[in-house]
Parts: sequence; structure tokens; C-alpha cells
Amino acid sequence: MKPIGKVLCAAGLLAGLLAFFWREPFNPESLVGARVLLTGASAGIGEQMAYHYARFGAEMVLTARREAVLQKVMEKCLTLGAKKVFLIPADMSSPSEPQKVVQFAVQKLGGLDYLVLNHIGANRFQMWAGDVEFTRWLMQVNFFSYVALATAALPTLEKNNGSLVVVSSVAGKIATPFTTSYSATKFALDGFFSSLRHELIMQGKNVSVTLCILGLVDTDTAMESVRGKVHLTASPAPEAALAIILGGATRLQEVFYPWWLQQVFYLWVLAPSNQVLQSYYNYSSP
Ligand SMILES: *[C@@H]1O[C@H](CO)[C@@H](O)[C@H](O)[C@H]1NC(C)=O
Ligand SMILES: *[C@@H]1O[C@H](CO)[C@@H](O)[C@H](O)[C@H]1NC(C)=O
Repeated sequence: MKPIGKVLCAAGLLAGLLAFFWREPFNPESLVGARVLLTGASAGIGEQMAYHYARFGAEMVLTARREAVLQKVMEKCLTLGAKKVFLIPADMSSPSEPQKVVQFAVQKLGGLDYLVLNHIGANRFQMWAGDVEFTRWLMQVNFFSYVALATAALPTLEKNNGSLVVVSSVAGKIATPFTTSYSATKFALDGFFSSLRHELIMQGKNVSVTLCILGLVDTDTAMESVRGKVHLTASPAPEAALAIILGGATRLQEVFYPWWLQQVFYLWVLAPSNQVLQSYYNYSSP
């Protein structure tokens, strides 16, 4: 092949790949006036998402446990351009809260276009020591409350061709040591919401489900739990927040952030990597 042929061939391949992966371009206009219910909005990635949504001109209901902190986030959102922001403090370990929060949001905003589920009870990053009650509590906060919030919001999301955005973690795709309970809650999210996505499509309901698989992000909670235990580079929270919002707005099924996690995940599925890790433990223990 002549050099020019090779260049054309490579360009064609690149264009094809781009067309394949870049299905829907992001249109910032689509978020102007969008009605968003965002959980875990007082700190970390949730707080950063609130600021991005505010800049895009969305209308929001913010929820988290700490009212005073939420108040500050709300005030900053208003200065950044959000048209309407409301807040409702809620503790997602209480089974009655999800329904209340969704009702409040629907009443204040007149419906929902986005339900962004982001709150977590954090990982303890320690070896399993038998605390079943902690696992039960974490399952309530990280999983059952997500199911209840989504269930309460589905009717309004269906009416509005809305989107469900579920923030998860690489610990919900790949099991590693020191994440037993946390990993379990995140795998549960993948199982539930990936199955629900099929059912919505089967029923002709136009609600997208976006599962977000995040690596280590430099939030206070995450950095606190891994301090002195793992040596990984953390990604900036504002970038992670933007990746989630764009994934939701373009109705992607899964968002990996940082993007290379997707490659790591496919390699993990293909290769017997568990054995590699396990022989490393044998090698490194005394
Ligand atoms: C939902 O999407 C369908 C198909 O694009 C469209 O006909 C309908 O008007 C949309 N409904 C709303 C409320 O946006
Ligand atoms: C689903 O809703 C989105 C957002 O409103 C719209 O762009 C799309 O055309 C709808 N798809 C179907 C199949 O109705």
C-alpha cells in the first residue's frame, strides 16, 4: 500500500472508532432547566456535581445529612447560575427517608429529569473482622436506599424521558482485599441497576441507567480511608464529577473514570489476575 493509502486507511479506522464510541455528543443546552435530585451533595464528588449542574443552569434538590454544610453548597450553586436550588437533610440509613426525599423534590421542581445517586457510607479499608451489623448498615446506606430512591422516582422519570445515574466504584467490578462490605454493596448496585436497565428497555420505558465506575478520587473521605494503606494517585473530584454528569446527559450505560479503568476491567475479566494477586500475597507475607 502506498503511504497515502495507509494514512487514509488509518484515518478511516480512527473515524470509525470515534463514531462507535462517541455515539451522542454532549449538548450543554440539554441541562438548562433540567430538574435534578442529587444525593450526597454536601461534600466530595456530590458537591462538585452540584457546582457543575449549577453552571449548566439546572434546577436542583440537594440532599445529605448535614444541613449547615448543604446550606453553604446551595448558596454557592445560586451564585454559579442555578435557577432554583432546594435542600432537604436526610439520613439514608433510615428506610423511610428515600420516599420523603423524592416526594419533596417532585413537589418543589414539578417532576424530575435526573436522579443522581451518589451518597455513600465509606469503606473502612480494613480486613474483615466479623462485623455483620456494619455490613447491614452499609447495605442500607449504599444499596437499599438507592433501590428505594429509584423506585420512588421512576414514575416521574418515565414521564420525562429521564435518567438514573448511579455512582459506583471499581470496587463494584473488581474485588480486592480490605473492601469486603463496601465491595458487596457496590456489586449489588451493578446487579440491580443493570438488570433494571434491561427491564426498562423491554417495557419500552425511556429511562436511561448510567452506572459510574470510579477509581480513587481525592475526596476527604476517600483520602482518609486509604491514608498510609495504598499508594495510588487520586483523580481530582471536579473532573470525576463532570465525567458522571456528561455520561448521564448522553445516556451512556457505563462511565469509567479515569477512562483507563475500562481497559483494566476488560483485562481483569480476560486474565486469571486473581492468581497473580494471590501469589503476590504469598511472596510478600513473612
Ligand atoms: C420522550 O421522547 C419521545 C421520543 O423522542 C418524544 O416523542 C416525547 O415527546 C418525549 N417526552 C418528553 C416528555 O420529553
Ligand atoms: C428517549 O429520551 C431522550 C431524551 O429525551 C430522547 O433524546 C430519545 O429520542 C428518546 N428515545 C426514545 C426511543 O424515545
